[in-house]
Amino acid sequence: MKKGELLYRGKAKSVYRTDVPQELVVEFRDDITAFDGGKKANLAEKGMLNARVSAFFFTLLEKAKIRTHYLGMIDPATMRVRTLTMIPLEVIVRNVAAGSLVKRYPFREGQPLDPPILVIDYKDDARHDPMINDEIILALGLVTAAELQEIKQKALSVNRVLGDHLQGKGITLVDFKLEFGKDGLGNVTVGDEISMDSMRLWDARSGQSMDKDVYRFDKGDVMEAYRRVAERITGNAGGRSR
Ligand code: C5P
Repeated sequence: MKKGELLYRGKAKSVYRTDVPQELVVEFRDDITAFDGGKKANLAEKGMLNARVSAFFFTLLEKAKIRTHYLGMIDPATMRVRTLTMIPLEVIVRNVAAGSLVKRYPFREGQPLDPPILVIDYKDDARHDPMINDEIILALGLVTAAELQEIKQKALSVNRVLGDHLQGKGITLVDFKLEFGKDGLGNVTVGDEISMDSMRLWDARSGQSMDKDVYRFDKGDVMEAYRRVAERITGNAGGRSR
């Protein structure tokens, strides 16, 4: 399998074609951005750590019979994935109130949300990813009603699988974002990444952030936090330098 032309360059990942039509290659770069790209940095080894955690979670989901795009690793920061037609929705599951939920609505930061709250944003940088609802999604023809239900059910199943694993590691899954796509057969499939860049993870005891909030709000050494949490999640101390 050969890496071909660059198909898409996002804020932290690049996607390449391959010589196999049903397969793409995703490179997790060391770039990190926040606040709509308003804050940017390049942090050595960050891509590799996010790739490792994403691969671990995708494998966990596959074991739980939840279809993902993950096919395997090519090198520590490069993943083989199924080609998907992406659905431009950011599906967010929240177990604890934080972030934009607290900013926009009268929730108290740290307030448990039981049942979890599912929020869907329309993925469009130029429009700043506005929150969307079922009616708008269907009116825009982004997915069918049945697909939307499937997406919601899958997001909640992913929440259970990830939440159980993280709880066992003493980590609270506060919230996370998923993106879905459809494969050639129309199967709704979990795509993109599931990493410290796309989740809020709090140490269950201290409540300390171990995710991109460390970078967003200058809460400490981002890479130290990413290394530690990746090791706790995957049980792999790995890495190029340690
Ligand atoms: O900012 P907000 O509180 O809505 O984010 C909810 C969750 O979704 C967080 O874990 C955040 O990292 C993730 N997210 C993301 N990509 C976005 C927006 C949010 O990964 N574009």
